[in-house]
Formats: sequence, structure tokens, C-alpha cells
Amino acid sequence: MKSPEFQPISAVAHPNIAFIKYWGNRDQELRLPCNSSLSMNLSGLETRTTVQFDPALEQDQLILCGEVVSGPALDRVKHFLDHVRSLANKNVYAHIESQNNFPVGAGIASSASAFAALAMAASHAIGLSLDEKDLSRLARRGSGSASRSIPTGFVEWQAGTSDADSFAFSIAPADHWDLVDLVCVIDSTHKSVGSTGGHALADSSPLQPIRLANVQERVENCRKAILAKDFESFAQVVEEDSNLMHAVMRTSSPPLTYWLPETEVILWNVLTWRKEGIPACCTVDAGPNVHVLAQGKYVSEVEKRLAQLPGVQKIFKANPGPGASLI
Ligand code: PMV
Repeated sequence: MKSPEFQPISAVAHPNIAFIKYWGNRDQELRLPCNSSLSMNLSGLETRTTVQFDPALEQDQLILCGEVVSGPALDRVKHFLDHVRSLANKNVYAHIESQNNFPVGAGIASSASAFAALAMAASHAIGLSLDEKDLSRLARRGSGSASRSIPTGFVEWQAGTSDADSFAFSIAPADHWDLVDLVCVIDSTHKSVGSTGGHALADSSPLQPIRLANVQERVENCRKAILAKDFESFAQVVEEDSNLMHAVMRTSSPPLTYWLPETEVILWNVLTWRKEGIPACCTVDAGPNVHVLAQGKYVSEVEKRLAQLPGVQKIFKANPGPGASLI
């Protein structure tokens, strides 16, 4: 029989797309970022996770989409749970079951929703009662961007100066702006260098200090553009910031080249459409797939045009989404 002290707890969280990117850590273990970042949660796409701590278990167990997980992915979750156990001062292993309703490798960061849902479920399951700020700090320890999937809607993660003040908060609710993320999948294979490895290379690029020099100004400009629903200013700062991150990636040692020729085709076309009066802009994470952002009334036209471009295999559409919650 399971211990009455521990009940199974389930939580849901959504991935997010960064408008101002997080790239590089000041502290790799604590995942303290080199810069503040801004994002939007993606509604409709979600990770659902159930955690049951059980004194009878001899190690942590992870089932992801019905498959037993071992190796580095399990080690990362164990390491995260060790931190949860130390916060609760309880030495007990957990059984975790997690499901995504979107494919891994679709250019949608599953680690953000995964660690946000895990932080929410595991902290409650072990008896901790954390406020939003501390949940965001906890999720950050699993994956930096997961800190941004805890609060609702449009979210800012302040880099802070230490573990205590590096957390995310909402700057506007999900219904503030009818922005849509059209995620253009051009390659769904798993990326060769994941973001954890990528962050560690950021400092090897001579362009990282240049990217960091003005990043706080871009955060301010992007926040202002979101709050004012000023798409033209938003588009400019979002594209500039994404291009700066990819310039850092491509000049790292060894270089990280995530873009494919089809990535460039989409970027070039969206820029051309914007000049013609169709307000849309692009941002790209650590992979080749392109997130195209457009306001509600332009979405069907943008989607129609994107579907005709070479290499676009699938388009996922997501509106601004809520933060993480218990189920
Ligand atoms: O949270 P991580 O370690 O998966 O890093 C995310 C990195 C980017 O997606 C490229 C940028 C971001 O801010 O989400």
C-alpha cells in the first residue's frame, strides 16, 4: 500500500516562445542566465505530468508518453528531484508519468513545459507550498526557459543577480493581445546539440558580449511594444534579437548552425510580406523550424502563404496561453 503521507499530484504546463532570447548562463548548475528574456506561453500545446512520491521505491522512475525513460534524460530529472527533496528535507523517490500533446522535435521547446509541469506537480506531491516566484525559480533549475512557463500569458524572466532573484513574472495576461505563433515545421529530427550544451558554448563566441551589451534595451523595447500592441516595433526587436542569438551560435567554437536553407526561405519571405503590408515576423530557437508571429486578423493569409513555401511540412498554431496549474 502507498504511504498515506504522499498523494499523486498532476499538473499541466505549456511551452513558450521567446521573443527576447535566453542564451548563455552565468552559472550553469543554477541556470542563472546571462540576460533577461521575454516570452509568450503557447496555448493548446501542453505537457501533463503526474508525480507520486513513494517510500517503497528504490529509485526515481520516469514514463514519458508511455515509454520508460533511462540514461541522460532520467539523470536530468533525478538531479532536479534531488533539489526538490532537499527543499522538502525528505528522502523519498518518485514515480513520474508525463505526456506531451505535441511532437518532440517540432521546434517547440518541450523542456520548458516539461520542467514547469514537473516543478508544479513534484513540489505539491512532496508537501511544499511554493508561491509563483519560487515555483518559477524551481522550474528554472530544470530548464531555464521553464521558469517562463509558470506565470500566465506574456512573461518576463529577470536575469537577477543570484538564485533568489532570478525568476519570471507575467507582464500581461493571455487575452491582452491576439498574437498567434505559426510554428513552421521544416525538419522534425532531433537536434544534435541541445540547448543545455549550446548555452555552455555561448561565451566562446566573440559576438556574445555584443549581443549582451544591448539586450536589456531590447527587453524594454519588446515589453513596451507588447503592452502597446505595437506590431511594427515588436517585429523589429524580435527579429533583431533572434538574429543576434543565431550570430552568436554560428560564431561559437565549435559553431552551431541550426538553420537549414528552408529556414532562410521563410525568413526572407516573411520580411518581404511585411514590406508589402502583411504584418508578420519571425523568430527561431535552437533548431531550424521558424516561429512566425502575426496578429489574429492576418493569420489565415499568413498561414496560406507559409503553406506554399518549399519545405514547410506542417504548421502548428498557438494563441497566448495560461501559466502552469494543478489538474
Ligand atoms: O531552457 P533551455 O535550456 O531549453 O534554453 C532555451 C533556449 C532558447 O529556446 C533558444 C531561447 C529561449 O529563451 O527560449
